[in-house]
Amino acid sequence: MQAVHEDVARVLFTDEEIQARVKEMGAQITADYQGQSLLVVSVLRGAAIFMADLVRAIDLPVEMDYMAVSSYGNGAKSSGVVQILKDTTSSLEGRHVIIAEDILDSGLTLEFLIENFELRNPASVEVATLLRKDVKPQADVHCRYIGFECPNEFIVGYGLDYAERYRNLPYIGVLKPEIYQ
Ligand code: PRP
Repeated sequence: MQAVHEDVARVLFTDEEIQARVKEMGAQITADYQGQSLLVVSVLRGAAIFMADLVRAIDLPVEMDYMAVSSYGNGAKSSGVVQILKDTTSSLEGRHVIIAEDILDSGLTLEFLIENFELRNPASVEVATLLRKDVKPQADVHCRYIGFECPNEFIVGYGLDYAERYRNLPYIGVLKPEIYQ
C-alpha cells in the first residue's frame, strides 16, 4: 500500500473503501436504469477521477461529457454565482443525465447545474456525489446517489485539491492545518 502523504493528518477513506463504494454506486445505477442509456456529466476538475471509476462500474451504454464552472471562491460562497466556463458537448434533450460530483458542500454548484440542465428538456436529471459534507447546506439539492458522508474538514485526494495539489492521492484524507493556515 502507498504510504500516506506527509501533509495528510489522517486518512478518512482508503483507496479500497472508495473503490468498493463506487462499485456499489455503479451497480445501483445499473439496476435503476435498466434498458436505458445514460449521459454522465462530470464537473471539472475534481470530479473527473470519480467519474472515471463510476462509469466503469456501470453496465449500461454510457456517454461521458464534461462541464467546467467558475468557482465562486471561499469569500463569496453565499453569492451562489456560478458561471459556465465550458459547457457539455452533447445535447441533453431527451437524455437520462447523471451529474457526477466529487463533493457536495454548500450545494450551490449543484443547485445551479440542476436548474440549468432542467431547462434543456432532458428525460431526467439525477446526481451522484461521492461525498456529502456534514454542513448545513445553503441549497436544497436532492442527491439520488451518495458515496459517503464526510466531516466538515479540509479534505484532499481522489480528485479533491488544495491549491491544485493532492488530486492524485488514491485515498481521501484530512490535510494538516499547517499546510493551509
Ligand atoms: C468543488 C467541487 C464541487 C464544488 C462543491 O469544486 O468539485 O464542484 O466545489 O461545492 P459547493 O457544494 O459548495 O458548491 P471546486 O470549485 O473546488 O473546483 P475543482 O473541482 O476544480 O477543485
